[in-house]
Amino acid sequence: MKGIILAGGTGTRLYPITEGISKQLMPIYDKPMIFYPLSTLMLAEIRDILVITTPEDQEGFQRLLKDGSHFGIHVSYAVQESPRGLADAFIVGEDFIGNDSCSMILGDNIFYGDGFIKKLQNARYNAASNNITTIFGREVKDPERFGIMELDEDKNVLSVEEKPEYPKSNYAITGLYFYPKGVSSYAKLVKPSKRGEIEITTLNEMYLKENRLKAELLGGGFTWFDTGTDESLYDSISMIRSIQNNQARVICCPEEIAYNNSWIDEKQLEERVHLINKNNYGKYLKKVLDRR
Ligand code: DAU
Repeated sequence: MKGIILAGGTGTRLYPITEGISKQLMPIYDKPMIFYPLSTLMLAEIRDILVITTPEDQEGFQRLLKDGSHFGIHVSYAVQESPRGLADAFIVGEDFIGNDSCSMILGDNIFYGDGFIKKLQNARYNAASNNITTIFGREVKDPERFGIMELDEDKNVLSVEEKPEYPKSNYAITGLYFYPKGVSSYAKLVKPSKRGEIEITTLNEMYLKENRLKAELLGGGFTWFDTGTDESLYDSISMIRSIQNNQARVICCPEEIAYNNSWIDEKQLEERVHLINKNNYGKYLKKVLDRR
């Protein structure tokens, strides 16, 4: 399975913060925002990852993530010339995806909670072996800000709608999606919406019509942030800080995931410890190294 991180967009909702820097490179407490979606894909055991950025920002991502080998993965890069919509990721990434199944995560989405790995495994299996798309739902208090899924009593998806004026439920569709092979051909059939974007919700509707759309629900205790506004950005930073300090662990640490999966060896982790040696993130990496 392939993985895409969509990290483009204009970031205008966060101006002036993002006038000079890509949103997804900004810090969420102790690490760049993109480490969080990257870790989510790595937890799903996806090692071949495409990072889609604006033309201006690509260099910054390349400086940070390089070819991915220090995380035991392979990272490649593509440019989205203008923010044509989320489903455009599968058109930009068509050659990269090839004839494989593919997960896509938005570069500004943070996930953390119990039982997540099992849900990721299920979604991966359903895409790769059962030709089923999975979307992830979480209850929110401001549903008009999100894509929304309507569910029946058995949690089957009845409808999906992008930012409806009158939401049929409080279940937001989060920015993490798992598609079976062939997603690029479907994405090419999506007609631009009223706001002129190739909407991912329209793409999901296609799978729903074919009875191939499944929802995984993330419970109330699950942490999910879309860091698209100054308020949610601040909330996510303070949440990550308090969870990390409380649990004495680092959330979404790619080096730790890679080392636990034996994707990098001791020597590679030591190199990271050597490089990051002046702060708590570095101390944590040293602890991970000493654990074995
Ligand atoms: O976060 C979950 C929500 O993400 C979903 O509930 C919605 O269904 C989905 O449409 C999306 O809504 P947003 O309003 O958050 O989308 P936004 O336009 O802000 O784009 C999300 C991120 O993707 C943002 O960091 C910018 C980036 N982006 C966006 C577009 C439209 C791109 O890289 N390229 C694009 O073409």
